[in-house]
Amino acid sequence: MAEVKLVGVNKFYGGQQALHGVSLDIADGEFAVFVGPSGCGKSTLLRSIAGLESISGGTISIGGRDVSGLAPSERDVAMVFQSYALYPHMTVRENMDFGMKINNFTPADRERRIAEAARVLQLEPYMDRKPSQLSGGQRQRVAIGRAIVKQPKVFLFDEPLSNLDAKLRVQMRVELEALHSELKATMIYVTHDQVEAMTMADKIVVLNAGRIEQVGSPMELYHRPRTEFVAGFIGAPSMNFLDIRSVGGRITCGEAVIGTAAPVPGAVRLGIRPEHVGLVAAGAGEMGGTVVLRETLGGDAYLYVRTAAGQVVVRADGDTALDHGDTVGLSMPANRLHLFGADGVTLSSGGVTA
Ligand SMILES: Nc1ncnc2c1ncn2[C@@H]1O[C@H](COP(=O)(O)OP(=O)(O)OP(=O)(O)O)[C@@H](O)[C@H]1O
Ligand SMILES: [Mg+2]
Repeated sequence: MAEVKLVGVNKFYGGQQALHGVSLDIADGEFAVFVGPSGCGKSTLLRSIAGLESISGGTISIGGRDVSGLAPSERDVAMVFQSYALYPHMTVRENMDFGMKINNFTPADRERRIAEAARVLQLEPYMDRKPSQLSGGQRQRVAIGRAIVKQPKVFLFDEPLSNLDAKLRVQMRVELEALHSELKATMIYVTHDQVEAMTMADKIVVLNAGRIEQVGSPMELYHRPRTEFVAGFIGAPSMNFLDIRSVGGRITCGEAVIGTAAPVPGAVRLGIRPEHVGLVAAGAGEMGGTVVLRETLGGDAYLYVRTAAGQVVVRADGDTALDHGDTVGLSMPANRLHLFGADGVTLSSGGVTA
């Protein structure tokens, strides 16, 4: 069993605190994804689990064993980095073999593990090539292969796909998901990519300035963000936020009156996702505005609508005739609204009080 348990993990770099009492449980076989803005501590947390960073306080256990003081090689983990860090003068086979060779695995065991990794990663035709003779995606697969042959209890990935082009990223993402279901290993994955986080994760961990902001399944975070920070971080394009006033159980936003299922005392901001704002005829809906920009992506178009209360991004059909300069009405269904207090904490989501 390879559950990962962090209790009160602190990390200081000199006088600067990078992790503030991080506590987290990742179940055996779970795919956990760390997200958060640049500098929030994702890599520091991952490297602490790997043993590449010593922690300043708290404990880290893997499979029920406290590994806080152990060297990386004693933790039964394997890490894959954004830069593949392959040995350029070695073939694919030698790159995968290297770690096992220096750790005195038997030749038969090494050969068996390499063959298995090559099969899983579909690298069989490339085993005698050098890294310079491979595509970026193939190189990253070799780096993953080096991790697989270790048969670790836990795989740690730090933005492994961010050097790849968009198409290859998608392909590798699907391959990693297949790998996870085949190996059934615990995996912890750091990414900046919204789609990777939503599609791959059993559990998303949102970090903010060295603290865990929220942990939950992708759809929990999407529908029930605990804070405005999480609401704005999960989902692309980002949720729209508008300042509101709540007076006598009514919520007003600029001139507009927004319907909610129940009055929410203390709400100062409203959030609604671009995919939840309805486009209606000018004059209808809760709000009106003018399209100031249209971005067409193919199947979808994003309309940037200037309203009296601020800008609202709306997802529309890619074939919509609406364009720059058109006036539109916007409907904001009560069951799609998120309301936030002055401290950034969610007061209600979809009409349900938090
Ligand atoms: N070796 C180090 N010495 C001093 N400070 C460091 C060191 N490594 C990281 N930090 C600091 O710790 C904080 C967290 O850094 P970390 O690399 O974990 O962020 P991150 O979330 O991985 O960011 P990114 O998304 O940009 O990779 C940052 O403020 C960073 O400057
Ligand atoms: Mg990082």
